[in-house]
Amino acid sequence: MVRDICFHIVDLVQNAVAAGARTVTVRLSDSADSDEIKLSVEDDGRGMDADALAKARDPFYTSKGFKKVGLGLPLLEATSCACHGDFELASQPGSGTSVRARMEKSHWDCPPLGDLSDTMLELLVTLDEVNLEFSFHGDRGQFDISSAQVREQAGSLHLSHPDIYSFLRDYFAANLRPLLE
Ligand SMILES: Nc1ncnc2c1ncn2[C@@H]1O[C@H](COP(=O)(O)OP(=O)(O)OP(=O)(O)O)[C@@H](O)[C@H]1O
Ligand SMILES: [Mg+2]
Repeated sequence: MVRDICFHIVDLVQNAVAAGARTVTVRLSDSADSDEIKLSVEDDGRGMDADALAKARDPFYTSKGFKKVGLGLPLLEATSCACHGDFELASQPGSGTSVRARMEKSHWDCPPLGDLSDTMLELLVTLDEVNLEFSFHGDRGQFDISSAQVREQAGSLHLSHPDIYSFLRDYFAANLRPLLE
């Protein structure tokens, strides 16, 4: 089992970026009322053919030449299945990949969310070349943000510029953090 759901989000976004995605969409819903955590990450990267798709769930398969194991997807599948949930991986060469995982929130083995606000903030400001779209849905409300929307406001400034970074940190603190308490 992994430390938290944020670990999985970072892994899935890194997978998408490594596949050359221009847009990566992360959706997370976390509800005690419906006792469910649902995570989906979709990208428009190079995708996988049927052979690569079948291998992607194997911990001893990776296309990243510098290592011998590829643990991200198998760990998420194992976590979802252990938590009475399910896991779906779909991909088409040339048109992208979609990963969906669902877990029973109250299950003993269900990992905590982790620091979702800081994780998404860091991904947003560090992924320079990508449009990251993020939406969170919880029992207390919804939060949506995208790098395209922030770049429009930021003009010529980079998202990691201190002024933009501090604006975003306050924005996440005011709008996302209260939904997570
Ligand atoms: N979004 C994606 N688009 C295209 N190929 C993907 C995508 N996600 C995973 N893959 C393929 O599946 C392989 C396994 O992914 P997985 O996350 O399990 O391991 P990894 O990324 O190789 O290593 P790790 O996650 O341990 O750092 C990747 O090496 C890549 O070839
Ligand atoms: Mg990975």
